[in-house]
Amino acid sequence: MSTSTSTSERVVLITGAGSGIGRAMAMAFADTGARVVAADLDSAAVERTAADIGKAAVAVAADISDEASVAAMVETAIDAFGRVDVLCNNAGIMDDMALPANLAIDLWERVLKINLTGTFLVTRAVLPHMLRQGGGVIVNTGSEASLRGGTAGVAYTASKHGVAGLTKSVAWAYAKDGIRCNAILPGPTITGIGRGTSFDEAGSARLAPVLALGDRIAQPEQMASVAVFLASDAASFVNGALVPVDGGWAAG
Ligand SMILES: NC(=O)c1ccc[n+]([C@@H]2O[C@H](COP(=O)([O-])OP(=O)(O)OC[C@H]3O[C@@H](n4cnc5c(N)ncnc54)[C@H](O)[C@@H]3O)[C@@H](O)[C@H]2O)c1
Repeated sequence: MSTSTSTSERVVLITGAGSGIGRAMAMAFADTGARVVAADLDSAAVERTAADIGKAAVAVAADISDEASVAAMVETAIDAFGRVDVLCNNAGIMDDMALPANLAIDLWERVLKINLTGTFLVTRAVLPHMLRQGGGVIVNTGSEASLRGGTAGVAYTASKHGVAGLTKSVAWAYAKDGIRCNAILPGPTITGIGRGTSFDEAGSARLAPVLALGDRIAQPEQMASVAVFLASDAASFVNGALVPVDGGWAAG
């Protein structure tokens, strides 16, 4: 039985691979010898990720919240490499940290549509290929907000609790088919996620203790290495797990 931490030769589809944690995942998987399908809404960013990896990567512009776009993205992966061994459902957006009474319906729907429905749509499109292949691994990017209520706004928190449920549901449903599904739950990580978001007074107050963490805010590579481990044979009996990667932030 293999207990290797390598994902060499595996075909890894990563959403949100143009920036932050997804880009770091693409680099980390490529470093172990994997072939990478790097997907993102931002086509220029994801082209850069694929170019930085080289021949072992293809870039695809895709919107995970759009069924047709997701189908085309998975088709690109199959055309390029013939299979998908690992799916990293990583793309996601923040809300504006507003309290439940103050959140606009448009933002609620947008966050749920990308973070939760998008994760479901990509999972649903990849599962038939994993079933045909006789197995595969899914690594979802949840959040501390998959477990707790006070780390983010209501839409983001509800969406990431949904990702936790989706993770467990997929793990339970397909364990017998050799498909594992786990989630990393990043703590605060230096990425582009808050860029362009404006926060109200309550949102700013909730962000303050996070920003005060200083050097206890993670680098994206510290998330990516855990995703590689979960995708590898070393984690062959880890299924349905929600793995906090937060430097102890939520442990108290
Ligand atoms: N940064 C943090 O502190 C933190 C903490 C917990 C969880 N996360 C989660 O990590 C994941 C990655 O976020 P990040 O922090 O690297 O942010 P990021 O903004 O740097 O990267 C997210 C990427 O997802 C892409 N994206 C957004 N909507 C998309 C869509 N509809 N279809 C395809 N791609 C889309 C963006 O273009 C961007 O390149 C998200 O799921 C986020 O919720 C981040």
